Amino acid sequence: MDAFRIAALLTIAFIDCSLSATKSKCDVVTALRAEGVPDKDMRDWLCLVQHESNYEYNVTKVKMVGSAIGSTTLGIFQFNNAYWCGNANGTSSPTCWKLRTFGCADACNTFLDSDISNDANCAVRVQHCDGFHTWVGWAQNCVNDTTAPSYDYSGC
Ligand SMILES: *[C@@H]1O[C@H](CO)[C@@H](O)[C@H](O)[C@H]1NC(C)=O
Ligand SMILES: *[C@@H]1O[C@H](CO)[C@@H](O)[C@H](O)[C@H]1NC(C)=O
Ligand SMILES: *[C@@H]1O[C@H](CO)[C@@H](O)[C@H](O)[C@H]1NC(C)=O
Repeated sequence: MDAFRIAALLTIAFIDCSLSATKSKCDVVTALRAEGVPDKDMRDWLCLVQHESNYEYNVTKVKMVGSAIGSTTLGIFQFNNAYWCGNANGTSSPTCWKLRTFGCADACNTFLDSDISNDANCAVRVQHCDGFHTWVGWAQNCVNDTTAPSYDYSGC
């Protein structure tokens, strides 16, 4: 019995290590619900995450402007590191002018780790202040249509 349990645990640990750095759809739904996101907004969020990061929580994207680095976006919600993280006065407040001026209180590298609860907290505050249009991935892919089966979360 014990040997069987140990073997089962080792198998789970092995599988965990071999997975790429993605979150499941239900992980994202859980993190968003914990921040008070209503179900009516959930498909927009899942479409946003699919197009911004494809659920990869440790992804960094550098956008070039000509030959110069234009901006760098981080993590599952692809926060721009020039606005949303790493400011000494970054805020946990929902107050929009504070959030727009100083960004979220998080260090930028905490938007790349496997804990997405702080990412969701920041994302939901940004969305409350400025809407889903803040994310190009949403504006280009989700604004008029979130009916795709991949945004279904009824199993979560
Ligand atoms: C993301 O994490 C995976 C799994 O740990 C790793 O293989 C990959 O290199 C990481 N990617 C980045 C950009 O850090
Ligand atoms: C943080 O706030 C202080 C006090 O208002 C201000 O002097 C400082 O310039 C701010 N720093 C940043 C990076 O915004
Ligand atoms: C969304 O629909 C509006 C109104 O029909 C249209 O003007 C706009 O171009 C559409 N946006 C996208 C990204 O498809």
